[in-house]
Amino acid sequence: MRVIVENDYQSMSRKAALLLASQVNLKPNSVLGLATGSTPEGMYQELVEMYHRGEIDFSEVVTFNLDEYYKLPPENEESYHYYMQENFFKHVNLHPENTNIPRGMVEKVETECWYYEEKIRRAGGIDLQVLGIGSNGHIGFNEPGDRLNVTTKLVELTEETIESNSRFFDSLDKVPRKAISVGMATILKARRIILLASGKNKAEAIKKTINGYVDTRIPSSLLQTHPETTLIIDEEAASLL
Ligand code: PGA
Repeated sequence: MRVIVENDYQSMSRKAALLLASQVNLKPNSVLGLATGSTPEGMYQELVEMYHRGEIDFSEVVTFNLDEYYKLPPENEESYHYYMQENFFKHVNLHPENTNIPRGMVEKVETECWYYEEKIRRAGGIDLQVLGIGSNGHIGFNEPGDRLNVTTKLVELTEETIESNSRFFDSLDKVPRKAISVGMATILKARRIILLASGKNKAEAIKKTINGYVDTRIPSSLLQTHPETTLIIDEEAASLL
């Protein structure tokens, strides 16, 4: 596992955008695994600017997002469909049919999960997966526990995650309790992984991610088993290393 420590949020975002742009420039039809949350917002901004400067072309790129809230309509401003449109998709030349996000409004959720895995497989697997990390060490919505999901599944969010994500919603009871998330094997099958973390509230999780033990209570620690993982973190997130 490689760790890159950047001074601050902005340089972390720039570094992540540069790595993603290198991937796309080397392989224009790359399959990218994308994350939401406040952490990657700066990276998306950088990528949009690079696109406007003609430094990156997304016309052949295929994307798969990590997760979506269950039963939150795509037009809801807190849905990850909405987030991706606003922060990234509508600003670059990605073809809408090449962008994929689990659909939270489906009736048959197991079929959706199976179909999502199948689509990733048919696309040839993920070339580069971008991850954020929860302060409890979750990646995607793979929450700490005795067991972790292997493939895409409907998951229950922990109280810590609901509480943390309530900052985006009007009130705590508006935060969905469930989500569809890709599983751990789906993430670990990516050829390359970059994990971004910024701020003191991630320092403990980052320390536990790389401390030399794999523990399902810290899902991000499983990344130690992956041969091509790079952590791009700012000094605050690195403060306990
Ligand atoms: P954040 O969320 O980027 O909003 O901190 C990260 C996550 O929960 O995975």
